[in-house]
Amino acid sequence: MTATTALAPLDVSRIRLDFPILARTVRDARPLVYLDSAATSQKPVAVLDAERHFYVTSNAAVHRGAHQLAEEATEAYEGARAEIAGFVGARAEDVVFTRNATESLNLMAYAFSNATDKARMGSALPEGAERFILRAGDEILVTEMEHHANLIPWQEVCAKTGATLRWIGLTDEGRLDLKDLNLINERTRVVSFVHQSNILGTLNPVGPIVERARAVGALTILDACQSVPHMPFDVSTLGVDAVAWSGHKMLGPTGIGCLWAHADVLSAMPPFLSGGSMIETVTMEASTFAPPPARFEAGVPMVAQAVGLAEACRYLTHLGMDRIEAHEHDMTAYALNGLAQIPGVRVIGPTDTHDRGSAISFVVDGVHPHDVGQVLDDRGVAVRVGHHCAWPTCRRMQVPATTRLSPYLYNDHADIDACLNAVAEVRGIFGAT
Ligand code: ALA
Repeated sequence: MTATTALAPLDVSRIRLDFPILARTVRDARPLVYLDSAATSQKPVAVLDAERHFYVTSNAAVHRGAHQLAEEATEAYEGARAEIAGFVGARAEDVVFTRNATESLNLMAYAFSNATDKARMGSALPEGAERFILRAGDEILVTEMEHHANLIPWQEVCAKTGATLRWIGLTDEGRLDLKDLNLINERTRVVSFVHQSNILGTLNPVGPIVERARAVGALTILDACQSVPHMPFDVSTLGVDAVAWSGHKMLGPTGIGCLWAHADVLSAMPPFLSGGSMIETVTMEASTFAPPPARFEAGVPMVAQAVGLAEACRYLTHLGMDRIEAHEHDMTAYALNGLAQIPGVRVIGPTDTHDRGSAISFVVDGVHPHDVGQVLDDRGVAVRVGHHCAWPTCRRMQVPATTRLSPYLYNDHADIDACLNAVAEVRGIFGAT
């Protein structure tokens, strides 16, 4: 994250009016302080209205049907794809809709295990699919700060294909140990890594990783779940081959995620799910498959959710992703500084705002994170506690779990203060010394 001073600040009190849920109270009429946006963001009325409008006016199954509603629904769905693709600097035809980032990453992982299986059986594969065939001795590289969604699918691929999983380790500060880039070698076939850690907040250096991976011909995949919602993001400048992200963390509905990949990568990938809509021809014996993105969108897709996510992109664009990034930078600095003043509190991850996002994990000496979360919840402060689906990261950082606050564009200093005040009370409540 880079500090920007010349940008007009966000008008948070105005923005909050767009999110009715933020006006509710919780736990004995305490105002809700929502600091769990890394788990899922709240949704502005514009997104809710867009979904409702679709259902009220044009609901139909897309890419089927010879009636006006089917035509309108298809236009809405493909129009949403174009809007969402534009938001990340992509071409519409290179964006696949999935359920969430987890499914997007599985889609990539299954391309490898399915291609390897098919090659073993001598079945037909899309042109160029050799790059997805793995053999014993091949290597897949991840990092020690992956969300389980970008770890377990690769463990599974390795178990199925005989490939070996390796990982870039972490420094004590919670950054990638770039010495481990030496692990990238001529056997490395995939480098799949997180852009911004959901637990540590660390923003990883994409350039040097991609450069090393490219030099050996490895495919690069970026888990951008915690970066697309928070900063200007352009797939064409990052140099990676594929990017996965979710809609619900960027003001969009649940149930929709995206996978972007270069056209030549997508067209070489065998399908993940099969069924209606993803075919070219079907006989009782065998089928051929449609070109991307349809090849990866079997069944009736999530049309209203795509329409909602497109509206979220318009909302974010209207505010300006550079202003959102600057706002979060300010929130992060304020929260890190406040946590540093509280005795017995330790941030797990970078303690300054350099190359760091707004998800901040911390531990309180002598108090389990679940108890910390309970105290905060009693005061209306919503945070996440646990291993944040990054269990190996917790082990590396030598903590069983953490408490994580994660502000977004609708939070202000008063929210951070409410959280800090509650954290300051924790040790007293539990008699921790
Ligand atoms: N992946 C989400 C988080 O980090 C749910 O909380």
